[in-house]
Amino acid sequence: MNTSHIRDQFPALKTKVYGKPLVYLDNGATAQKPIKVLDVLTEMNRSLNGNVHRAVHYLSIQSTERYHRARESIRNFINASSENEIVFTAGTTGSLNLLAYSFGQTYIKPGDRVVITETEHHSNIVPWQMMCKRTGALLEVWEVDESGALDPKKLEKIFDSSGPVPKLLSLPHISNVLGLINPLEEIITIAHYYGVPVAVDGAQGIVHKKVDVQALDVDFYAFSGHKLYGPTGTGVLYGKEKFLEEMVPWQGGGDMIESVSLKKGTTYAQLPLKFEAGTANYIGVAGLGAAVEFMQELNTEALEAYEAEITKKALQELSTIEGCIVYGQPGTYYGQNYEKTPLFSMAIDGAHPSDIAQLLDRMGIAVRSGMLCAEPLLERYGQTALLRASFALYNTVEELEFFMEALKKALCMLR
Ligand code: ALA
Repeated sequence: MNTSHIRDQFPALKTKVYGKPLVYLDNGATAQKPIKVLDVLTEMNRSLNGNVHRAVHYLSIQSTERYHRARESIRNFINASSENEIVFTAGTTGSLNLLAYSFGQTYIKPGDRVVITETEHHSNIVPWQMMCKRTGALLEVWEVDESGALDPKKLEKIFDSSGPVPKLLSLPHISNVLGLINPLEEIITIAHYYGVPVAVDGAQGIVHKKVDVQALDVDFYAFSGHKLYGPTGTGVLYGKEKFLEEMVPWQGGGDMIESVSLKKGTTYAQLPLKFEAGTANYIGVAGLGAAVEFMQELNTEALEAYEAEITKKALQELSTIEGCIVYGQPGTYYGQNYEKTPLFSMAIDGAHPSDIAQLLDRMGIAVRSGMLCAEPLLERYGQTALLRASFALYNTVEELEFFMEALKKALCMLR
């Protein structure tokens, strides 16, 4: 991995924070953007801005072509079988809300069950709670164990328990707290054996793992653009065409219609536009297309090896800090290998995460602290706040070393 060549492509990394070089370790929250993405956003905003799908003039045709090209790039990136399976949204949260609403309205009736895990981000909890309230369905929780792994026997117990077979299992590819890669292949195989479709919150997963939706046989996969080096306000819901065809639309308005009549009512557009009401974020989507192309130009194997090296070194160094617990340790659990991505959520005796984060900030280091949008998971571990450092492909070993030094300095001041 030539990190210095990669870093040159991310102008934000040159920012000075209180006169010090920025060390950006909050990539789990949002990642910085490469020039390739920034250039597309600038070019389209400056000189190619015309509303997509709306007009026959040059600018509108340019926007529309780029919007379509981005959909094809993303289809190719995750190996979906058709562009009809790629729905643009405002982000993972938008994708999961769309799914919970439309899937719920189409398939769920009172007494049905939907399963999520205890490791979810709030975005994969609240939309399902809302859906259950609307439909009278029950939300069941697949509990996580101390290590952060998910025992498949517990899932089978939920599937086998009395009552109808659940209508859906929704789980994260990688929890934004634990950083462990869930064994999706095994989980999807079990769920499908019971006839349960599977939705995956891929907000963190798509950034660190090559995703092939056909090989995984996953039914839905949601992700955001802004964590994948793309623009904020962009996201994707991948869904198998057979489901998306049947699912009712969730928002009404322009672009999702075929015909509107005050007398005869409305008929809807074909996929994927059926789910894309209103003026699309076509400039953002073109930027997301550029981000995906940027990712495809990278050497995935070298990238994964580099991330593994950073992860190993960080875990080793953090284990030397007295009273530090890092949640989500890699290992073999229930016969499955749980690899860890370079995302480290920790509790450190005698120092509050927010205080540490503030001191690190003054040293130029950006990390996240707090509940990490995963209150139930923190509660499971008896915590109310954690400190999280999350690395991206442009972070260096030197930055890790600097972070460790700074962390030790902060702890000296606080305890
Ligand atoms: N989901 C984002 C995070 O984990 C915001 O920080």
